[in-house]
Amino acid sequence: MSKSTIESLKEALSFSPDNTALRLHLAQTLKEHNQLEEAKDHYQIILKTENNASAKYGLASVYYTMEEYATCNIILEELLAEGKETFDVLLLRAKALSKEGAIPEAIEIYQKVIAKNPSYRDEELDEQLRLPNSFVEGEDDASDLAFLQKPAITFEQVGGMDAVKKEIDLKIIQPLQHPEIYKAYGKKIGGGILLYGPPGCGKTFLAKATAGQVKADFVSVSLNDILDMWIGNSEKNLHEIFELARINKPSVLFFDEIDALGASRSDMKQSASKTLINQFLQELDGMQSDNDGVLIIGATNTPWHLDTAFRRPGRFDRIIFIPPPDQEARKAIFQLKLAEKPKEGINYDTLAKKTKEYSGADIEAIIDIAIEGKLEESIKKGVPTPLTTKDLLSAIKKHKATTAEWFTSAKNFALYANESGMYDDILAHLNIKK
Ligand SMILES: Nc1ncnc2c1ncn2[C@@H]1O[C@H](COP(=O)(O)OP(=O)(O)OP(=O)(O)O)[C@@H](O)[C@H]1O
Ligand SMILES: [Mg+2]
Repeated sequence: MSKSTIESLKEALSFSPDNTALRLHLAQTLKEHNQLEEAKDHYQIILKTENNASAKYGLASVYYTMEEYATCNIILEELLAEGKETFDVLLLRAKALSKEGAIPEAIEIYQKVIAKNPSYRDEELDEQLRLPNSFVEGEDDASDLAFLQKPAITFEQVGGMDAVKKEIDLKIIQPLQHPEIYKAYGKKIGGGILLYGPPGCGKTFLAKATAGQVKADFVSVSLNDILDMWIGNSEKNLHEIFELARINKPSVLFFDEIDALGASRSDMKQSASKTLINQFLQELDGMQSDNDGVLIIGATNTPWHLDTAFRRPGRFDRIIFIPPPDQEARKAIFQLKLAEKPKEGINYDTLAKKTKEYSGADIEAIIDIAIEGKLEESIKKGVPTPLTTKDLLSAIKKHKATTAEWFTSAKNFALYANESGMYDDILAHLNIKK
């Protein structure tokens, strides 16, 4: 359509401004020509006088194109509440939810889209929602999701963190190795521990090392992956993952990003999510099946988003704060990560001193930066030139510490939502007196 079409539509509308169909047509045409502000105005004029579903959908799609996803979602929510579950409305809703990062809900809606038109696939949505191929092929297999490994690392490779290692040893390793002693005192074995703390500080690494420490199998699964399976049969998958860990015991069953599942149950309107959470809690309780010999470890950056049901006795009732590495730990991390690299006279104490508030992941990034700086020189010379303390110090200047940001929000939860002293460790770390 050309510009003149727009002009003639406008002219026609000036003669009959109450003609809704005409105004809708104009708004639609404007939208197609990417004249979004004007299109928006016309949709809004219609909506001022009548509750018109096409105008609402049109307005929502304008907001979507303008990347104002929150507003788009509000309008779509209204439409759905009014029972306007058309293919277009649902599809736009799935896309807008996905853009807002509401992945589980987006998947739920996308499922309805596909139910309306089974041959329809939206490539971008498929990608964003990371739908596993198994779904497309109509089969779901937990082994796609859970990875069974025998970690080679042990506590020795974990720098510092002595207190945390000791806690893990007492709380989960000893009970696994001496069940009779624990039972004699009537102490319950089982349940899980929850590791929480700022990103990149070794939660995943430590969970893996725990498995290595007891020579157990390590079953690692990202909760976001399970949620992606909603569209398939995620309850069954979850059950199979637990079974995989039970069959291979002793084993460490590690759930990463556990907040993805726990994100306060009331927020999740869809019933599928509730079933999944209940399934998870049931597996955790080990009602029908025996979790003896299975160490369950969860990890999260945002424990405050976790439903309190997860923290009941026998579930994730032991909660361990994984702080940023202290000076000693940073030294150890530098030593570990540089062990196999060409280097010369490294002063590890200096590096550790200069990296306060840096995470283990930050330290890896620093080493990476230093190596990149070395590559050019080495290629010129034809031999790898060794890394020096100076190289690493200048790399430190190029990479900002990432843990401080986490503490800004964590501090608020620790101060104002510190149920039963759950976050005392955060306060202690920040030197805040209760
Ligand atoms: N104490 C440590 N000793 C040795 N390496 C460490 C230590 N802490 C972190 N690292 C290194 O930093 C990297 C990042 O750590 P990890 O992935 O375990 O962090 P995380 O706490 O799980 O982060 P996220 O919250 O982002 O998942 C690891 O690959 C590991 O090599
Ligand atoms: Mg991790």
